[in-house]
Amino acid sequence: MSRTPYPRIATLKTAAAFRQHLDRTGIPLAFDDQLAAPEASPFARPIEVDGSRVGNRFCILPMEGWDGTSDGAPSELTRRRWRNFGISGAKLIWGGEAVAVRHDGRANPNQLVLNARTQPAIGAMREELTAAHRARFGAAADGDLLIGLQLTHSGRYARPEAYDRPAPLAATHHPVLDPRFPNGVPVIADAELSTLEDDFVAAARLAREAGFAFVDIKACHGYLGHELLAARGRPGRYGGSLENRTRFMRTVIERIRAEVPGLRVAVRLSVFDMTPYRKRPDGIGEPEPVGGHLGSVEGAVLPGFGVLADDDRLGEALDDSRFVLRMLEGLGVRWICATAGSPYYNPHIQRPAMFPPLDGYEPPEDPLRGVARQIQATALLKRDFPGLTFVGSAYSYLQEWLPHVGQRSLRDRLCDLVGLGRIVLSYPELPADVLAGAPLRRNAFCRTFSDCTTGPRLGLVSGCFPLDPFYTARPEAIKVRNARTARLV
Ligand SMILES: Cc1cc2nc3c(=O)[nH]c(=O)nc-3n(C[C@H](O)[C@H](O)[C@H](O)COP(=O)(O)O)c2cc1C
Repeated sequence: MSRTPYPRIATLKTAAAFRQHLDRTGIPLAFDDQLAAPEASPFARPIEVDGSRVGNRFCILPMEGWDGTSDGAPSELTRRRWRNFGISGAKLIWGGEAVAVRHDGRANPNQLVLNARTQPAIGAMREELTAAHRARFGAAADGDLLIGLQLTHSGRYARPEAYDRPAPLAATHHPVLDPRFPNGVPVIADAELSTLEDDFVAAARLAREAGFAFVDIKACHGYLGHELLAARGRPGRYGGSLENRTRFMRTVIERIRAEVPGLRVAVRLSVFDMTPYRKRPDGIGEPEPVGGHLGSVEGAVLPGFGVLADDDRLGEALDDSRFVLRMLEGLGVRWICATAGSPYYNPHIQRPAMFPPLDGYEPPEDPLRGVARQIQATALLKRDFPGLTFVGSAYSYLQEWLPHVGQRSLRDRLCDLVGLGRIVLSYPELPADVLAGAPLRRNAFCRTFSDCTTGPRLGLVSGCFPLDPFYTARPEAIKVRNARTARLV
């Protein structure tokens, strides 16, 4: 089991015990002791945005499964995950999962790609989600269900041909990250970025025709759309000033609004970041010193977007995001999904967990601190941009306390919707149970073993191997468990 000294959430069984732990550690996380009755629940309040009605305050975050076909279409596993999104009861489906706009932008050979060939199958999967929602919640239940599609190019983290063969196409050189790619890191040229803008617009058009209400122009987690925002040392039209670094996002959104009328645009943004982490000899994560690397890069300007040095300066670190949000508001974007960091270089920031994935490190802080940081960052931005609708991320580590913290976050207007990621893999019906006031299934709560990330790191599909009987019964479960236990001895 984990060697880290943080109490497991399952042991914090009462509100008093949970509060005492938060008080003792100084982790700023507010929660309600009791869940409200269904008719009074802040989760049950619909929200109207941009002409669309969303029936409640639960949002399913995008969750890839590394399980598409080699030509980028969904498999039965992909469709099952999306059906589970449909039966969750959540009324906002933020993107489903990352879908590459072209082959070289795939993060793995099984990532979905949206093109004329795959469009019918991806559209049919959206219909399956809707049908599952209707079958569970009633024939008219999809009237306030909003489904978007997340569009991406994986940039530095592209691996289109084989899961263990990186084919990076970075936005900028990075003194710490580049050495992690032994075969070098090509930087995408300005002309190629213009072509990629065309690809995003073409994919957006296909998404609209496939019935999606919006597309998310992904700008998070270290992928190309995010790394461009950080490209401070990049020369030319797409680098340097924030004006230039936002050019790609701005152009894509302006063009979609002009060329694909009727389709709404949303943005998932890593609203803050930290420098890349590495594993210490004792297995715990630590920031990788930048100084030693910087000397190797001529005239180096350290890339970064909203880089947070210490928690007291979170407000300051969000200035980059404020610039982007002001721009997005001006472009008519109303939906923002706040996330942080990257699963590749600082996973404890992005998806707080007790147990690291295969390529990760033991948590350098109580994972609750990571949860609180994302909630706080989202709250600060919501305060500054009350006209934007914010979905919060990184609640899964809260486990039994997720509904209590989520309810309080909604009541205090720290966010507009509570996003659910990993928990949906182990307990898809959590939103429906909370909304019905039903007893919650303790044994279905994600315990953040990170097997859903370790699977893909081994070239296998993702899924909740420990808790979802469907995945527990699959042959991959043994390989994933062996990999996890091997790294703990
Ligand atoms: C297996 C897995 C797949 C994911 N796929 C995506 C994705 O396709 N797009 C995306 O923006 N985030 C993706 N994420 C990140 C989640 O959307 C979410 O931000 C993260 O898990 C933190 O939220 P949580 O605490 O509720 O899990 C993925 C996370 C996991 C664990």
